[in-house]
Amino acid sequence: MPQKLVVANWKMNTTAAEAETLLAALEPTPKSANRAEVVICPPFVRLQSLAPTVAEKGFKLGAQNCSGDKPGAHTGEIAASMLAELGCEWVIIGHSERRQEQNEGDDSIAAKLKIAAACGLKTILCVGERADQDAETVILAQLQGACGGGKPDAVAYEPSWAIGSGRTPEASEIAARHDFIGNFLGDAATPILYGGSVSDDNIGELAAIPQCRGFLVGGASLDGRKFGKIVAVCAKIG
Ligand code: PGA
Repeated sequence: MPQKLVVANWKMNTTAAEAETLLAALEPTPKSANRAEVVICPPFVRLQSLAPTVAEKGFKLGAQNCSGDKPGAHTGEIAASMLAELGCEWVIIGHSERRQEQNEGDDSIAAKLKIAAACGLKTILCVGERADQDAETVILAQLQGACGGGKPDAVAYEPSWAIGSGRTPEASEIAARHDFIGNFLGDAATPILYGGSVSDDNIGELAAIPQCRGFLVGGASLDGRKFGKIVAVCAKIG
């Protein structure tokens, strides 16, 4: 079994002191074969200060977004090349909060995927439906729209109704969506993650879904004890 990829999406949270405390609370990745690959995605402004500790602990650094443009006159944006220079290995693209709050559309997401890959970053493309939408119709449209910019390195299935709500789809639904995404991608190598209310309570059940190659964790990643348990369960199940 390949290692599970466990991605902490801190979103727009943590003071500088809180970020250091949270990271310090996490167990380093063990050298043994039983381990999960942990990616920490703090807010942009914490990337540089946290990078050394993230590396010391054997974690990878990730960003929550990047610009779809090259460096230039784009006020308030952050270029993928800048993230790579800071030591980011991963970048999350097309998170549902950005699709909804920033009106991010397919063209912009495709441009981000393309430029991030060109800068050497590995991309996690987020897809998922709202509660009032048909899951497969939405996922297919989002994959088709994004993948014009190239294939992502990982896809996170995150139904937006499950994010931060404490509700998750049934295991059989998660498995079916993962199969659907896998069929679209047409290769078994690209990991497909699940995200949306992953917690220390439900991780045992979720990690047992064979199609789930990892998790994108929001709220629970802000609690060192909970996130530590999520990583430990993923490492054990492999
Ligand atoms: P959540 O967020 O774990 O708080 O539901 C997941 C995400 O939005 O990536």
